Amino acid sequence: MSVETAPDAPASVVLGIETSCDETAAAVVIDGRLVRSNVVSSQVDLHARYGGVVPEIAGRAHERKITGIVAEAMVEAGVKRHDIDAVAATIGPGLIGALLVGVSAAKALALVWDVPFVGVSHLEAHLYASLLDEGEVEFPLATLLVSGGHTMLVAFRGHGEYEVMGSTLDDAAGEAFDKVARYLGLGYPGGPAIDAAAMEGDPEAIHFTRPMLDDGYDFSFSGLKTAVINHVRAHPDVATQDVAASFQAAVVDTLVHKARKAAAEIGATAVCLGGGVAANSLLRERMLDAAEADGIQALLPSRSMCTDNAAMVAAAGWWRLAREGPTPLDVGAYPSMGLPC
Ligand code: KG4
Ligand code: ZN
Repeated sequence: MSVETAPDAPASVVLGIETSCDETAAAVVIDGRLVRSNVVSSQVDLHARYGGVVPEIAGRAHERKITGIVAEAMVEAGVKRHDIDAVAATIGPGLIGALLVGVSAAKALALVWDVPFVGVSHLEAHLYASLLDEGEVEFPLATLLVSGGHTMLVAFRGHGEYEVMGSTLDDAAGEAFDKVARYLGLGYPGGPAIDAAAMEGDPEAIHFTRPMLDDGYDFSFSGLKTAVINHVRAHPDVATQDVAASFQAAVVDTLVHKARKAAAEIGATAVCLGGGVAANSLLRERMLDAAEADGIQALLPSRSMCTDNAAMVAAAGWWRLAREGPTPLDVGAYPSMGLPC
């Protein structure tokens, strides 16, 4: 176990930029922790009618919005160009046309301001969301990263030291929420819609099998999604709220069970959440209860830091810069980038 502290460097102000999917975001973060501004412009209205993100529409919208969002983040933070010490941007994974907008903007700003550019993995950024506005943390941490594109359990052993303990074999948790919500006619994005509908339903109304519960640290959600569809077909009069609550309970039971097991295995001081699904009310409540029962901390980012944002990118970028220095300006954008280990 080690106590990691911030590098012995003067206060440093990082501008973070995030455009990997359908949120255009910019943020100013001090010393990898203190969030001075966090501006997120969601494109959800542009994509809602298609029931999912349309890559070309996303890229074009980022291009239109990025300059204004960066300016807003700087004004909100009360900083001017001379105050910025580095610019960090998500370089992958994500949609290529979307990523390229943020990467190009960040490189251009770093070049004209004559400050370092840092390329960050979106997955690494989600891990750092739970450390924002926290003091020093004691590693190792067990982090459950659950988003629309990824579901993984990570042993976070120190800054830049990650080990993927398990991940999904098919759908990501958020993808399962989105697909089930679409089937139930609850709209897009599905996660918040199921969260809200489940509040009015009975989680024990239908028993869905918890997928791969005692089967290591990998996950599988596509069978659960099919089970939901089959149940609704066989019982057309079933209350949608009961289906939503029962589906959500099955996903959350599985996530909490595995996160808890992983935390015990690595001797984690805390269990952390990251990614859009970490905004889920039941998951947050159950994770807090489990951590308390196990005598460890639970580091849950605020809901706005769970979904895509640039504060987490600035934080991950600051630590990466401290460890490895600037990223060369000829780096590209990497749609299938993993977690740098
Ligand atoms: O991290 P994120 O903003 O984008 C990706 O990197 O994928 O995650 C988006 C996902 C979507 O699938 C959305 O439905 C899900 O997070 N989500 C939720 C909730 N809020 C967002 N899922 C369950 N409950 C929520 N409250
Ligand atoms: Zn994300």
